[in-house]
Amino acid sequence: MSKRYTITAALPYTNGPIHIGHLAGVYVPADIYSRYLRLTGNDVAFICGSDEHGVPITIKAKKEGVTPQDIVDKYHAIIKTSFEDFGISFDNYSRTSAKIHHDTASEFFKTLYDKNEFVEEVSEQLYDAEANQFLADRFVIGTCPKCGYEEAYGDQCENCGTSHNATDLINPKSAITGNTPTLKETKHWFLPLNKHEEFLRKWILKGHKKDWKPNVYGQVKSWIDDGLRPRAVTRDLDWGIPVPVEGGEGKVLYVWFDAPIGYISATKEWAERVGRKWEDYWKDEDTKLVHFIGKDNIVFHCIIFPSMLKAEGSYILPENVPANEFLNLEGNKLSTSKNWAVWLPEYLEDFPNQQDVLRYALTANAPETKDNDFTWKDFQARNNNELVAIFGNFINRVAVLTNKYYNGEIPQPAGFKAIDEETLAAVKAYPAVISSSIERYRFREGSQELMNLARLGNKYLADEEPWKTIKTDEERTKTVMFVALQIASALAVLSEPFLPFTSDKLKSILNHSELDSELTWEDISTKDVLLPAGHSIQSGKPELLFSKIEDDTIQKQLDKLEASKKANEAANKKVEPQKEEITFDDFTKLDLRVGTILEAEKMPKTKKLLVLKVDTGIDTRTIVSGIAESFKPEDVIGKRVTVLVNLAPRKLRGVESQGMILMTEDENGNLVFVNPNIEGVANGLKIS
Ligand code: 2FM
Ligand code: ZN
Repeated sequence: MSKRYTITAALPYTNGPIHIGHLAGVYVPADIYSRYLRLTGNDVAFICGSDEHGVPITIKAKKEGVTPQDIVDKYHAIIKTSFEDFGISFDNYSRTSAKIHHDTASEFFKTLYDKNEFVEEVSEQLYDAEANQFLADRFVIGTCPKCGYEEAYGDQCENCGTSHNATDLINPKSAITGNTPTLKETKHWFLPLNKHEEFLRKWILKGHKKDWKPNVYGQVKSWIDDGLRPRAVTRDLDWGIPVPVEGGEGKVLYVWFDAPIGYISATKEWAERVGRKWEDYWKDEDTKLVHFIGKDNIVFHCIIFPSMLKAEGSYILPENVPANEFLNLEGNKLSTSKNWAVWLPEYLEDFPNQQDVLRYALTANAPETKDNDFTWKDFQARNNNELVAIFGNFINRVAVLTNKYYNGEIPQPAGFKAIDEETLAAVKAYPAVISSSIERYRFREGSQELMNLARLGNKYLADEEPWKTIKTDEERTKTVMFVALQIASALAVLSEPFLPFTSDKLKSILNHSELDSELTWEDISTKDVLLPAGHSIQSGKPELLFSKIEDDTIQKQLDKLEASKKANEAANKKVEPQKEEITFDDFTKLDLRVGTILEAEKMPKTKKLLVLKVDTGIDTRTIVSGIAESFKPEDVIGKRVTVLVNLAPRKLRGVESQGMILMTEDENGNLVFVNPNIEGVANGLKIS
C-alpha cells in the first residue's frame, strides 16, 4: 500500500566541499531509500539543504578573511552541484540562510517561548576577554568530561558523541586566541530536556523503537539513563538567526536549534513550488518521518529535536533514525583540516562519469554497524571484480549477442527447460529480497543481492553457452537469449536505487522507453515477460557500463594521499624554540664559508655517514657528514654548500672530520643543503 514519507538527510555544514565520508554515511543510503520508495509507488519528500549558521562557518570566514555569507555562498553552490553530480535525488535542496527558513525557525522559537517551554536564565558562560567574545560550541576546545578526549568542542565531543554545555569542558581553551577563558554572566534560553525525559523514555525505550539500529538505540538509552539537563538554545554570536523575543538583542539561535527546523522549511519551500500541502509531510500521523544522519548527530535527532517537536505539539516524530557509523580512509580518520579525504569534485575530475562506481564501493562497504575503512584497493576490486567482471560483462554479452544473432530483436523462445524456469523464478524473487534489505536499512546487503542477480545472469550464460549452441541448436539459443534478456531487464529496474546512472544507461541499451509501459519494481516479480519477443534493443556496439581501473590510476590516488600526509606532518612540525641569546662576538667566532663537494663515499659499515672531500676555498678537506640516509654519494658531488670550517676536528669511525656542512629539512622532512645558491660565488667566500 502506498504511504507518505518525509525523508531527511543531515544538512551539511557549508564550510567545505563534501567528501566520501558524508556520501557513505548519509547521502547515498538516504538516496537509495528514497529512490526505492518512489519506485515502489510511495509519496516521498526527500529533503536536505545547507546548514549555513554555526561556528564552523564563522571560523572558516575568519581564516580566509571574508564574510560568513561569502563562505556559505561559495560552498552552498559547490555542495549542491556535488549532490546533483552524484545523483542524490533530493526533492528540495534548500539553505538555512533562506528567508523561509529564518521565518520558520523564528516562529518555532516564538511558539515554544509563548508556551513557556523555555527556561530563561542568567548564567556564567565562557568568555574570551582578548577576542571580546563569548565562547560557545567550536569556539572552545577542551577535555571531554565523559571520555577524556582532549579536543572536544564546547557543545559536543566528536570522539564519544556526547553533547554537553561548554562550561562542562575540562581545561577549556579559546579556539580564537588560545587563551584560557574567564566566566562572564549572560542571559540565555534553555530547553529543559529533563522535563521531556519521561516522554523520551516512553517513546524510545518503552515504545516500538527497539527496532532502531542498536548503535542508535544504545546511545539514546545511555544518555537518558545518565539523566538529561537543560540545554541552551541561544548564543551570544552575530552569525545566525536573531533571537526573536524581548531581551534577545545581539543573540542568535543555537545552530542545532535552527538546523533541524531546516528540514521543515525546506519541505515548505518544496511544497509551495510543486503545489502540495507541507503540513501533510510534517503533521499527519500517517506520514513516516525518517532522518538519515551520521552517528555524531544522534543526540540532536533522537533527543533534542524530538523534544522540540513534542514541546511545539503539532508535529509528528521520527519513525526511525538510521544513523551510520564513520568511514575511515586508508586506516585513518577522515579529516577536513588534515586534507585526509576524497573530495567529490576531485573524484569526478579523476574519474569522470564514474559516480556509480563510488556509490557502489561506498555502499558495499558502508559503515552500517561499525566504523569501516575505505581503501583505494577495495574500490578498484569492487569495480574490476564486481561491476566490470560480473554486472558489466553480463550486460555486454547479452547486448552483443542479441545484436549479432537477431539484429537486436528479442527472439521468440522455443520452449523452456527446467533450468530456464528455475532461473526466471529466481529473478522474480529478487524484488522482495532487495526490498527487505532496503526496508531494514541494510543497504550493503541490498547491493550484494543486486550483484547476486547479475551473478545469476552470468552463470546462466556460462552454463547454457549460447555462443556454442548457435552453431548446433538455433531454437535453444533463442530461449537462452530470451531468458538472459529478461534478467538484464530486471537488473535495469532493480539497480536504480543503487546505481542510477547505470540503470539509465541500461534502460537505454534495452530500449525500455519503447515498451508499452514503464517497468516497475513490482513488475519484476509479477510479470512473466519483461522484454517481449519482437522488442528491439539499441543497435550497434553497446556502451560499456563499466571499465577496468588500472593499478597506476589507483597509485595516483595513493600518492595524492601520501602527499597530504607529508604536507600535514610538515605543517604540524613544531618549530623549535629560540636558543639562548648570544653576543655579536659569539657569532663572529663562527667561520662559515661557501664550498663545493668534490668527492663522496659511504663510510664502510655505517648507515648514516658519508665521507666527503670539500673544497672550502682555503683547502680541500675531509668532512664526515651524517647524510647517507638521504643522499647517495653520486648525488652530492658538485653540490655548493655552506661549511663551518673552524669547528674543532673530531674523529668519526677513525676518520678525522674537519668541519661541518650546514643542513636543514624541506616541508616533507627530507634533508636539504643550506645552499648559498648564488651563481658565481667562489669557494672560500665568507658568510656573515
Ligand atoms: O553535523 C553536521 O554536519 C550538521 N550540519 C548536521 C545538521 S543536521 C540537521 F539537523 F540539520
Ligand atoms: Zn568524549
